Amino acid sequence: MNDQPEAGLPGPESGAGPDAGALETALAQKSALLHEIDHRVKNNLQLIASLILLQSRRTADPAARAALKTVLERVAAVATVHRRLFQNDPLSFDVADFIRDLTGDLAASAGRDDLEIALDLDHIAIPAASAAAFALVVNELLGNAVKHAFPPGRRGRVSVRLSNGDGLCRLTIADDGVGLGGQPPGFGLTIVKLLGQQLHADVQVEDAQPGVRATVIVPMTAVPKPDRASP
Ligand SMILES: Nc1ncnc2c1ncn2[C@@H]1O[C@H](COP(=O)(O)OP(=O)(O)OP(=O)(O)O)[C@@H](O)[C@H]1O
Ligand SMILES: [Mg+2]
Repeated sequence: MNDQPEAGLPGPESGAGPDAGALETALAQKSALLHEIDHRVKNNLQLIASLILLQSRRTADPAARAALKTVLERVAAVATVHRRLFQNDPLSFDVADFIRDLTGDLAASAGRDDLEIALDLDHIAIPAASAAAFALVVNELLGNAVKHAFPPGRRGRVSVRLSNGDGLCRLTIADDGVGLGGQPPGFGLTIVKLLGQQLHADVQVEDAQPGVRATVIVPMTAVPKPDRASP
C-alpha cells in the first residue's frame, strides 16, 4: 500500500490548513449544486404535471381526459422516484419504501376502501439508474389491479411481494379480481414490456384464476453491495 497522500490532497498531518479549507469549500459548493439540481428537477416535474392537469381540465372528451389522467399518474411516479432518491441515497433506490408510498397514494386516490392491499416486502436497493423504469412498471401493474380487477361493489385483495434471492429481485403483484378476460394489452402493459426489456427483466402477466398475477424478475448484477448501499 502506498501511504503517501495523493498529489493535491492534504496529508494526515496537514490538519485544517489551507488545502483542507479549499476542500471544504469545494464540498460545500458541490452540495449546494446538488441541492439546486434537486430543486430544478422537482420544479420542472411539477410544471409538467401542472401543464397536463390544466390541459385535462380544458378537455371535454372523457377518453382524452382519462388518458391525460394516466399520464399525470406516470409523471407523479417519476416525481416520487426523484424525491426518494434525493431525500435518501442518490445512488441507490429502496424499492420497498417506494411501493409503500405508492400503494398508500393509489388506494387513497382510487377512493376504494373496500380493497385490501397486502404488502410483504424485503428491503431491496436497486441502482438509481434503474429506479424510474422499475417504479413505472410497479405503477402500471398496481394501477391495473386497482382499476380493472374489481368492478364497483366487488371487494378484493391485492398482494404485493418483493423478495431477493439467487441474484434476482422478484416482484409479484396478484389480485383476486375478475381476471384478464382475454383483453389484449393496451398502452400500459406495452410500457411494462418495454421497460422490462430495459431492465433485462422477465415479465409475466397472466390469469391466475381467480384474478391476475404479474411477476417481474430483475437480475441484481448491477446492484451495489450491501456495505456500499447502507450507511
Ligand atoms: N389486474 C387486472 N385485472 C383485470 N383486467 C386487467 C388487469 N390488468 C389488465 N387488465 C386488462 O387488460 C387491459 C390492458 O391493460 P393495460 O394496462 O395495457 O391498458 P389499460 O389499463 O386499459 O390502459 P392504460 O394502462 O394505458 O391506462 C385492461 O384494459 C384490462 O381490461
Ligand atoms: Mg393499465
